[in-house]
Amino acid sequence: MIPVCIPSLGEKELEYVTDCIKTNWISSKGKYVEEFEEKFAKYCGCEYGVTTTSGTTALHLALASIGVGKGDEIIIPASTMIATAFAVIYCGATPVLVDAEPETWNMNVNKIEDKITDKTKAIMPVHIYGHPCDMDPIMKLAKEHDLYVVEDAAEAHGAEYKGKKAGGIGDIGCFSFYANKIITTGEGGMIVTNDEEIAERAKSLRNLCFPKEKRVYLHSEVGYNYQ
Ligand SMILES: Cc1ncc(COP(=O)(O)O)c(C=O)c1O
Repeated sequence: MIPVCIPSLGEKELEYVTDCIKTNWISSKGKYVEEFEEKFAKYCGCEYGVTTTSGTTALHLALASIGVGKGDEIIIPASTMIATAFAVIYCGATPVLVDAEPETWNMNVNKIEDKITDKTKAIMPVHIYGHPCDMDPIMKLAKEHDLYVVEDAAEAHGAEYKGKKAGGIGDIGCFSFYANKIITTGEGGMIVTNDEEIAERAKSLRNLCFPKEKRVYLHSEVGYNYQ
């Protein structure tokens, strides 16, 4: 059998996991999660990082945080891992497919505009196999039509487009840290953004919409446990 990827786990990983066990900080509240959020977001050129349980939940949380819902259309590439489309469907929205271009297999940016309707809420480019999409025309279209750009950078940690990190160009970037990814936490994901409001909303939705001020069991809307 030829493995797709072999995780590289060394002394540091063993040391940190051992530290979690020794200190009893085995859930998402330990010091490492916040440190990872801060450092990874900064690495992507973003102010805020919000970790999740997977790349799939990062995509869903991103869309939920910008209020994607029933009746909305989200433009995604026809060729991607299925989680991109599922995240749209989880929100009750409709994925609208754009064909790939033959050179990079990324979304063909020349075919996006034809798919924009008055129901379109966001464009979700996927940097497939870590190759960044041509982001300038995507950002331009989004600006012209007042759309969000949610990057699926699940496979693109560290990839750069014109000096900017993939995932750090649109309104939100989504990453996976599954075991076959460039950086792994076993299972896990993260959204990165420069928008404080989106980050705050994502943090609330990720934690079952518990009130921020006080740990009381009062929930004003439906949230998720994606910590
Ligand atoms: C492009 C893309 N999007 C989303 C995902 C979903 O990530 P996860 O497996 O962590 O849920 C993956 C992971 O394989 C992916 O390759």
